[in-house]
Amino acid sequence: MDEIRTIAVVGAGLVGQGWAIVFARAGLDVAIYDARDNAEVVIRPQIERAIADLGAGGLCDDPTALLSRIRFTETLADAVANSDYVQESAFERIDVKREVSRAIDAALPGHAFVGSSTSGFPGSDFYADCVHRARMMVVHPVNPPHLIPLVEIVPTPWTAPEMAMRARALMEDVGQSAVSLSREVPGFVLNRLQGALLDEAFALFAEGYATAEDIDRTVRDGLGLRWAFMGPFETIDLNAPNGLADYAERLGPMYAGFAAQRQADRGWTADAVQRADAERRNILPPSGLLARRSWRDEMLMRMVKAKKDLPS
Ligand SMILES: NC(=O)c1ccc[n+]([C@@H]2O[C@H](COP(=O)([O-])OP(=O)(O)OC[C@H]3O[C@@H](n4cnc5c(N)ncnc54)[C@H](O)[C@@H]3O)[C@@H](O)[C@H]2O)c1
Repeated sequence: MDEIRTIAVVGAGLVGQGWAIVFARAGLDVAIYDARDNAEVVIRPQIERAIADLGAGGLCDDPTALLSRIRFTETLADAVANSDYVQESAFERIDVKREVSRAIDAALPGHAFVGSSTSGFPGSDFYADCVHRARMMVVHPVNPPHLIPLVEIVPTPWTAPEMAMRARALMEDVGQSAVSLSREVPGFVLNRLQGALLDEAFALFAEGYATAEDIDRTVRDGLGLRWAFMGPFETIDLNAPNGLADYAERLGPMYAGFAAQRQADRGWTADAVQRADAERRNILPPSGLLARRSWRDEMLMRMVKAKKDLPS
């Protein structure tokens, strides 16, 4: 990370703020540009609160030093022109992504490179016109990036392979956990995996096999316990005496049978969505959503802390 000292964070809503904390926590200087009026007045207190929460949760030793590395700029060019890496986290709208990418392109120093936080657009949809598109890619975080370390690095057809490798090295240096995709695919890896699970959860619910609460419980108290420290391949590798191939031989036909049953319109019907929502609102009324989100973040912090104490 020797030559990377200064990061531009362009767009500092939920995700950009988390990114600013990630980079500053790793000792890098962070320049934030956000297009909203009075950006610093609005955003700085939110970052201060998030850093204070990290401190209270035992996840940040020196909140003051961390905060001192974050500054705001009046223009996008001010932030970008002095940066070594740009993390773009503006609104998820294709016109915004195109416009902001062009502005970053125009101000980008000769050595710097760029990652977009976009959740849904392939980089080739908004980097096409950029002069420096060989140094641009998607670097997709999970919200909030300062608590959940995974990032997906997705090159466009024009991204130079060494730039994607630099992005991966940077992410690892700042404490994130990086995944490198070979090429663009809608949803990347994380949301495609989540989508497969949601499809099946909705299908089972829609067909009345179990309640939403019991399906949630199956993940919370079953599958999910392992998922905090191992993935699906390692799980099955350990679940048959002779490893993954042995598991596939024993249970592969059963899973192939499920896949053959799967129909596109099995799950996300308007009726199923309405009934699942009603079940959730019965357990958690709308007035409780905010407090429950705070509870989730608190649990997340405790999990992150617990994971730090586990052997790898
Ligand atoms: N929220 C999530 O769960 C999540 C997770 C992963 C990735 N993302 C992606 O991160 C990006 C940001 O999402 P968010 O949830 O933080 O959105 P957000 O609405 O909270 O924040 C977007 C910020 O961008 C600023 N902005 C808009 N246009 C700008 C411009 N031209 N220049 C500079 N700033 C500009 C806005 O003022 C706002 O502060 C999106 O691409 C989103 O898809 C979001």
